[in-house]
Amino acid sequence: MYAESRAGQAEVPWDLPSPSAHLRALDLPAGEGRQALVVGCGPGRDAEYLAGLGYRVTAFDISGTAIDLARERHPGTAVNYLVADLLDPPADWRHAFHLVLESNNVQALPAPIRAAAIPTVGTFVAPGGTLVVLAAATTRIDSDGAGPPWPLTRAEIEAFGGDGLHTLSIDQVAAAGTTLPTRWKAIFTRAAHQQAAR
Ligand SMILES: C[S@@+](CC[C@H](N)C(=O)[O-])C[C@H]1O[C@@H](n2cnc3c(N)ncnc32)[C@H](O)[C@@H]1O
Repeated sequence: MYAESRAGQAEVPWDLPSPSAHLRALDLPAGEGRQALVVGCGPGRDAEYLAGLGYRVTAFDISGTAIDLARERHPGTAVNYLVADLLDPPADWRHAFHLVLESNNVQALPAPIRAAAIPTVGTFVAPGGTLVVLAAATTRIDSDGAGPPWPLTRAEIEAFGGDGLHTLSIDQVAAAGTTLPTRWKAIFTRAAHQQAAR
């Protein structure tokens, strides 16, 4: 879709100029000196926002075109943009990031793939670090199976808390002005004393 968009043959609906409003609404820990990882970064709107907060950001996407767009749109960026696959991530990302952002990606994955993706996201969180998950939430009116996106169930959101993470909060928030009426805002953390298991 990114390639078609580049050729003027499609619009990428999530390719917006502003960082996620739900991300901006968060009270994030201070960025200075901390490593952040942005999952499925697309052309980089949220990665650039976190870099602006002082995080040292690595941002990845499976789409090489998305990563090209991110680098072109943000010349001189401090963000380290990479092509990588959430389902086969670099081994040295395990327990390596103080802040991990998963926003709107797993909801675009069909059920069999998301079942493998969800437990992987938390493995990137360093001891003392934080995982933020922002996603569309299921409701009775959107649970007909049409998608993507396929909004996440509460059980799927809770499953991000695997790999030894603790759930700090799971909130369902209104998503005014979108076709999906509610969203998840979930925050997880890893105990500071937990050792990286290899
Ligand atoms: C709906 S878009 C959301 C993009 C961005 N997070 C945002 O909110 O603007 C989902 C993104 O996940 C990426 N993606 C899909 N499967 C992936 C995978 N296995 N590994 C990494 N990125 C993936 C897609 O290329 C796409 O950029």
